[in-house]
Amino acid sequence: MVVQERELVEPQALPTDTERRQRTFSGIQPSGSLHLGNYLGAIRNWVNQQEHDDSIFCVVDLHALSLPITPQALRENILDLANVLLASGIDPERSVLFVQSDVREHAELCWLLTSVTQFGELRRMTQFKDKSGGQDEAVAAALFIYPVLQAGDIILYDADKVPVGEDQKQHIELTRDIAARFNARYGETFVLPRPDIKPTGARIMALDDPARKMSKSAANPGSFIALTDDADTIRRKIKRAVTDSGGDVRAGTDKPALTNLLAIYALCAGEPIEQIEARYAGRGYGAFKADLAEVVVGAVEPIQRRLAELSADPSVARGVLARGAELARERAATKMAVVRERMGIGGAG
Ligand code: AMP
Ligand code: TRP
Repeated sequence: MVVQERELVEPQALPTDTERRQRTFSGIQPSGSLHLGNYLGAIRNWVNQQEHDDSIFCVVDLHALSLPITPQALRENILDLANVLLASGIDPERSVLFVQSDVREHAELCWLLTSVTQFGELRRMTQFKDKSGGQDEAVAAALFIYPVLQAGDIILYDADKVPVGEDQKQHIELTRDIAARFNARYGETFVLPRPDIKPTGARIMALDDPARKMSKSAANPGSFIALTDDADTIRRKIKRAVTDSGGDVRAGTDKPALTNLLAIYALCAGEPIEQIEARYAGRGYGAFKADLAEVVVGAVEPIQRRLAELSADPSVARGVLARGAELARERAATKMAVVRERMGIGGAG
């Protein structure tokens, strides 16, 4: 009996990369309005990825519970974020788009993975240190466990690639460690994912301080461009953005502010940085900033137009999310049956 059961859980080789389409998974929190860094560092790459990969994108509402948020705000943010993703070009015909808590397996796998995660590993996560602000006595335990939930999100779907901004690199590395430890203990079960971080845009910096990353929680709203900012607000914020000493429009380690503005220009216009530098050679910051503002306005305006349409009819996003949850649930349930069996949990068979 015992021997037979053992055979049932004998690890099977996972299909190799060449045998199946690459799978992409990424998530984003419904924790408030989005900024240009989220778009250029993450969402834009998701949209491009769906051309060739088997793509799954998730509104991670359970993660958003790690910091205080009211039920009403969360409910609104979930739908708003789904609409922003659709307006940005996530195509439900080609990608699965769903809300994390609609697939119960995420919460379940998180708990199971806490048993193969070391306390010390979580204590080393810089995002926890940043977000807890040194107040780790008072913050929710969810903030500490957060990276385990994230690891589960990814490996539940056997994702190969995780397109994220630079700040998530440590979490993806932890995901690999957790998956590898599970595999070593229970047999080959999970694919080890790799972060997909682009050389340009993975860390868009604050407009008022190029030493800090652009973040929506910044005290000064002039430090970030919200995806919902109107054209005049964008123009004003870019005009006020700090620059470096010396007047030439050039990227370089001695020019952190210009490097950031050039990266924003390059990504919004789809043009290499060198070409932009050449065009503004000898023309000074004023001309560059005026054009940059128009390039950014041009990039966000079509998204805002589609967003207005989608927001007017919430049934569109609701339909997409319902179908997405159904597809994700199917995949998640299949995987979790294997996980439960490997771990030896459950009694009803
Ligand atoms: P968050 O807003 O922290 O949930 O981040 C959502 C996604 O946007 C993640 O993939 C982040 O890595 C990415 N992201 C957040 N801030 C930036 C930034 N300043 N530059 C580039 N990517 C960012
Ligand atoms: N922690 C990510 C962030 O703050 C959000 C996230 C949750 C995520 N689960 C994920 C990102 C899985 C990629 C894959 O941006």
